[in-house]
Amino acid sequence: MEFINQEIEEYCTLHSSLEPEALKVINRDTQANILKPRMLSGHLQGRLLSMLSNILQPKNILEIGTYTGYSAICLAEGLAKNGKLVTIEADEELETRILKNIELAEMSKKIELKIGNALDVIPTLTQKFDLVFIDADKLNYIKYYDLVIEKLNLGGLIISDNVLWDGKVVEENKKDKTTELLRQFNNHLLNDNRTQKVLLPIRDGLFVSRKTK
Ligand SMILES: C[S@@+](CC[C@H](N)C(=O)[O-])C[C@H]1O[C@@H](n2cnc3c(N)ncnc32)[C@H](O)[C@@H]1O
Repeated sequence: MEFINQEIEEYCTLHSSLEPEALKVINRDTQANILKPRMLSGHLQGRLLSMLSNILQPKNILEIGTYTGYSAICLAEGLAKNGKLVTIEADEELETRILKNIELAEMSKKIELKIGNALDVIPTLTQKFDLVFIDADKLNYIKYYDLVIEKLNLGGLIISDNVLWDGKVVEENKKDKTTELLRQFNNHLLNDNRTQKVLLPIRDGLFVSRKTK
């Protein structure tokens, strides 16, 4: 199911800020050399992540699910002076490429990569965050959200990716485990009375929650 047709998406992309040169290179390299390149946020979503981060000017950002580093770099563009982004990736085979990409974007001082299972790493983090991007395995989304909301400053954002799951969340005949879990996740976020929220139908769906109490 396509909720935004490709022509409209291309038009929106053409009328958004240009993709920075380093991100263009990372995007092309990922498409050519890495499995499942569709996982990369891409030009339009990347510019939205950068804009939200620039508006918020976070001191600390947490990303769950680095892949090749594209979204981490977009989010780090908005960091406050001396701000830091921690990104967690389970696949150690991606480590060298992620570090190379972070260096290419001249973000090595701002981005810290932690290789490991996010469920193990998150409880070891002692800092509070202003912005969290959840973009790892969908089966643990509720656990990630419950762990990070406790570590989120008031006014901070949690942005959760892929919450429309190719549109399957609204197709009644789709009963696979991931679709069911994402429906539960979206309801979980909707029913959290500590947040203001909006589900944006951008790319594969971005759920934006802002902590208000
Ligand atoms: C959708 S991709 C992330 C895309 C990236 N955020 C971007 O937009 O460019 C999901 C990543 O999460 C990683 N991942 C899956 N389960 C994980 C876990 N339990 N802990 C940390 N990373 C995990 C995968 O290896 C994969 O690289």
